[in-house]
Amino acid sequence: MPVILPKELTGAELQSMLKSNVNFKSLGGMRVEGLKLSEEDIKWWRDAKIGMFIHWGLYSLLGQGEWVRYNEKLPYCSYESLKNEFDPVDFSTDSWMDIARSLGANYCVMVTRHHDGFSLWDSPASYRGFTSVNSAAKRDFVKEFTRSCRKYSMKCGYYYSPMDWRFPGYFDPVGLSGNAELMKRQCYGQVEELMTQYGVPDILWYDGGWLAHKGSDTSSAWFWEPDKLNKMVRSHAPKIVINPRSGWEGDFYCDEGSSVISGGIITVPWEKNLCLCSGASWGWMENDPVQELDWLIRMLVNVIGRDGNILWNIAPDKNGRLSENVKNRIKEFGDWIRQHREAIYGTRGGPIEPVDDVFVTTFRENDVFLFVLDKVRFSKNVVSGLPGNVLSVTTLDGKPLAYTSGEGIKIDLQHLPDDVVPVIRISLDAEIKPVSSQVYFTARQ
Ligand code: GLC
Repeated sequence: MPVILPKELTGAELQSMLKSNVNFKSLGGMRVEGLKLSEEDIKWWRDAKIGMFIHWGLYSLLGQGEWVRYNEKLPYCSYESLKNEFDPVDFSTDSWMDIARSLGANYCVMVTRHHDGFSLWDSPASYRGFTSVNSAAKRDFVKEFTRSCRKYSMKCGYYYSPMDWRFPGYFDPVGLSGNAELMKRQCYGQVEELMTQYGVPDILWYDGGWLAHKGSDTSSAWFWEPDKLNKMVRSHAPKIVINPRSGWEGDFYCDEGSSVISGGIITVPWEKNLCLCSGASWGWMENDPVQELDWLIRMLVNVIGRDGNILWNIAPDKNGRLSENVKNRIKEFGDWIRQHREAIYGTRGGPIEPVDDVFVTTFRENDVFLFVLDKVRFSKNVVSGLPGNVLSVTTLDGKPLAYTSGEGIKIDLQHLPDDVVPVIRISLDAEIKPVSSQVYFTARQ
């Protein structure tokens, strides 16, 4: 399979993408003059590094993932009537914020409406009023979520699926164009509601901009007219960060799923989104095994060392809760993140190209943070290509590590702390400059 590349990548970026196994979705999206955020506008998002994704809806009652209605061919009426059972007990969206904090997330993206059409807010544009306000719960969960985000100083993101299985026109947009048009009208109306009803959100995360489950988000742009849709979004939320999955190129790239990231640094803004559990589905499944701590840490490190963000999905049950198992793993993982926060938040990937399974680096100002993935293999390496003279080499908490300089530096790992992925701080005498995201941003200003 040929790797499809973002057209704007050239030179070094192109080279690293070719070597990488990052698989960006929705490449080749429509370009629209003036719609993309500048480097400065998206800086907060890149600095934030870690987000939490929340898949929760009517499907969470059934425990077979968010595609259950489609996969099990559930008749519309029986699925719709689930809303009479949708009434989480003792539930507050604040509990999600506690989890997000525990995880070390700086932003949350809540699924406000998935492909099943059930909206988690009071949505006048919802076709047949299929909303949580009209469910047993009689609650507006998007409003509650947004309030909780603000209360916890968490950046607030909405996932929204333009497509909706309830419309036969989705499956035959040409033959049933009138019905498909209704679905499109719902999409425009609902996105506008999300941009205006609860104050301005920080992130808009589209998914499912294809048609009839064929092609890609970008090949369906003729129908959705994402230029028009996102111009409307920008008119209400000029600085909102938008993903690429509406058919417009978006402000960042997306890699979806649990495949391990390898290869070179990708200096364009990008985000990996994946599940904390097995990844068999994004919505709740009972006893879905949570990933091992070691795996989670390595995944995070592999992404940030290649200059990406990471969005971890949780799948609460019908009452909006996570199992103790999952919460405990999140806590352990978050503890590791907190202990290494200096090397994570507000950094950029690099300046040294990663060596797969051996080490990656991040940097901020004069400091390079070197994450050791394999001590034995790393100890045989010389670190070269540092953009300045070395002032000191220490552990993260400041204990000096011996090193020798020559062509590069060779670090003695004897006193490295016992850690899944130990981190070494190399302080230089000069501020480190990001390499080449210039190419990405200047091209579109
Ligand atoms: C996949 C799944 C979808 C989920 C999305 C999250 O596309 O099919 O259900 O919401 O990933 O990125």
